[in-house]
Amino acid sequence: MPYDIAIIGGGPGGYVAAIYAGKKKAKVCLIERDELGGTCLNRGCIPTKALIHSANIVSEIKQAKRFGIITRDVQIDWNTIQKNKETIVKTLTKGVENLLKANGVKTYKGTAKLLDKNTIEITYQTGQKETITAQKIILATGSSTVIIPIPGYDLPGVITSDEALSLEELPESMLIIGGGVIGIELGYIYNTMGVDITIVEMLPQILPRQDEEIQKELRKILERQGIKIYTSSKVKAIEKTEDKLITTFETQEGVKQITTDRVLMAAGRKPNTEAVKDLNLDIQKTGITVDEYLRTNIQNIYAIGDVTGKSMLAHVASHQGITAAKNALGQNKKMDYKVIPGCIYTSPEVASVGLTEEEARQKYKDNIKIGRFPFIASGKALTLGERQGFVKIISDSKYNEILGVHILGPNATELAAEAALAIKLECTAEELADTIHAHPTLSEAVMEASFDLLGEPIHKM
Ligand code: NAI
Repeated sequence: MPYDIAIIGGGPGGYVAAIYAGKKKAKVCLIERDELGGTCLNRGCIPTKALIHSANIVSEIKQAKRFGIITRDVQIDWNTIQKNKETIVKTLTKGVENLLKANGVKTYKGTAKLLDKNTIEITYQTGQKETITAQKIILATGSSTVIIPIPGYDLPGVITSDEALSLEELPESMLIIGGGVIGIELGYIYNTMGVDITIVEMLPQILPRQDEEIQKELRKILERQGIKIYTSSKVKAIEKTEDKLITTFETQEGVKQITTDRVLMAAGRKPNTEAVKDLNLDIQKTGITVDEYLRTNIQNIYAIGDVTGKSMLAHVASHQGITAAKNALGQNKKMDYKVIPGCIYTSPEVASVGLTEEEARQKYKDNIKIGRFPFIASGKALTLGERQGFVKIISDSKYNEILGVHILGPNATELAAEAALAIKLECTAEELADTIHAHPTLSEAVMEASFDLLGEPIHKM
């Protein structure tokens, strides 16, 4: 019997779509070649956050004396840190398996390939094949690391984020190619664990797509923490000596060479499109083309998540998953990409929602207002020993409607939720300032930045 919906890929896009469609009593199957949970649960968001929590504990212990707590030297048991991460990952992947079962989704563990617009061939690890059919298909096959084809890219010791999350022991030094989110988060983790970190980024600033003020301030903070950062620098080659790697890169001051134990490639990700290569799908370099309903150019096939190249974030994939499942079940739901929180888990954290200052200036022809509030003026931040960072709010100058919120500071990633809701509901700075925020909390900084935007700063000179 054919399925109503077959979903290819069990990451946060695919499994969420499957659960949703299962709840609506559709006949649904999900095909996944690896572990359920995809990159997010197995090799991305969750394992990095487990390691970052361990890194944050190291940082806190190092500062404990300031809070009147005397400890002995910090010792890092890397093996236990890895085991803790694996336990968390296993708990969550098991949870996904149970949720799929509970919602009546049939899971196939194999590699899917579309033979035509309704037929999927599944190849199992044993080599055995099975063919299934479905009326609607949702492609959620994700992305994988871009390998820059420079000389030496395949040398032993040159790794991607997949291996970087499961290193058996801590190296003494690591050079990271790419100062995007992956390079910066992994650089933060390993630097805190005592690894000598150098980041080489091609563009003039780290973290492309972030507000410029945040890029510059976070760079200063990371450099103070001991990370060496080269921007406007392009890696040319990697060579191997007896037990080290020498990376050659061009900077504006000339060619440089740095010797490290490992080289991590974190120069972006590319969509996984092998499953549909024989189909007449519109596939661009950035991913499978979809319309605002997540339909591809083939009427019964939808695509969601990293494979669409829209925004390689787990939470966007899940949202697309629910939207595609609704549409596959007969609704007409459009995707709205206006409010996408972007989070970077360093210490302090970064979160941004909506337009950056540069984008807002362009779109509103400089008719914008900006409010800022530094965490050094926040009572709660000071009790936590956090003095770095700020909240920056951008609005249009006619209605004071919130267009963008950028936060560098403690728990920024949690504070982003209020900002996301504010932009979604088209809140004005007056409405944010007029909302009573609990005291003492970090969220008061969002309210204070709104007062500042209105020219009525309270706890700021
Ligand atoms: P990215 O596109 O964010 O950054 C890659 C960086 O590498 C860019 O700044 C680029 O200019 C640089 N680069 C490229 N070639 C280079 C070369 N030859 N030499 C030096 N630099 C070079 O990609 P990234 O960091 O790999 O992340 C992939 C995706 O995963 C992103 O879309 C990101 O948003 C997502 N992600 C999200 C996380 C989060 O939400 N916390 C965590 C990790 C990843």
